[in-house]
Order: sequence, then C-alpha cells, then structure tokens
Amino acid sequence: MGTASFVCSTKFLLLALVVSAVPVAFIISLERSKSSTHVYEYHGLGWLRESGKWDDANRRFLVSNLEGGIGQIPVPEDHASGTVLQEQTVVRDADLAGNASLGIVVDPPRNRLLVAISDLIGNRYTALAAYDLTSWNRLFLTQLSGKGQSVDLVSSSVRS
Ligand SMILES: *[C@@H]1O[C@H](CO)[C@@H](O)[C@H](O)[C@H]1NC(C)=O
Repeated sequence: MGTASFVCSTKFLLLALVVSAVPVAFIISLERSKSSTHVYEYHGLGWLRESGKWDDANRRFLVSNLEGGIGQIPVPEDHASGTVLQEQTVVRDADLAGNASLGIVVDPPRNRLLVAISDLIGNRYTALAAYDLTSWNRLFLTQLSGKGQSVDLVSSSVRS
C-alpha cells in the first residue's frame, strides 16, 4: 500500500479523528471552565486579533485587526465581571485596505498608538503608522518596504 492510498484510507481518517480529539476536547474544556483570574469577555467584530493592549488613560483595550484597522473595547468604571463588553472599530483606512494591522504599542506621553502594518498574504507592503488616541487621526504613515522601497513620510506631526 502506497502513501497516497494510506492517506485516503478509512484507517487514516479514523486515526486523524482520534489524534485530533484530544486537543479539541482540551480547547473546549478551557473555553467552558471558569477562570480563577479576572477575565474580560467581549463581543468582537472579526475573527482574529493579532495584538491587544490596555490603554490606561482611556480605560479601554485596543486590538489590532488582522483584516485591517484598529478596534477598541471600552471598560466602564463600574464594570461587573460577567458583563460582556463590545468591540468598536476606531480606525479603518481605505488606502491601507487589504493590509493587516499587526503589533501595536500605546505611547501615552505622545497620546498616540503605533501600528505595524503588513500585507500578510502577498508580502508586498509593510509600514508603521501612528494614530492620535483622542481623534484617531493618522499622524504619520512610514512605508518600510514595498513598491519604491523608500521610506516615505506622508505627513509628519511627530512630536519628539
Ligand atoms: C496595502 O497598502 C498599500 C498602500 O496603500 C497598497 O498599495 C497595497 O495595495 C495594500 N495591499 C493590499 C494587499 O491591498
């Protein structure tokens, strides 16, 4: 029996089912069990968030969206554990559509959020962007790689 016919065989499918059952059962039990530490639950607007950071001055979590853009999850002062929070989109740049938002850093002294942006699938564009934490205006967008390969400051209002 060759490799190809083994992969297609019932025995292989049964084996794959048995092998995957253990990690799947473990994930299900993790999802259903009550955590011993404090947990914030929220309803997201997408399926994958690459990075999440706490913005202390504004009492909210900020998340970067793999499908592009930034979301916020405000946490009210009187938040009771068990209350489900709601994600809201705060940044969605049309000129960066198709690119993923990856790592983020909250920069309180400059009241800005730094965002690593990348074309994850085609790997043809990477950039660093900064957004004002109050207005969500883009402060700058610096291309790191892609067409032209040049470092291109679109607008610079960076305070030092
Ligand atoms: C990512 O953004 C750049 C800059 O605006 C754009 O040229 C490029 O087409 C975008 N990538 C994808 C995959 O859409």
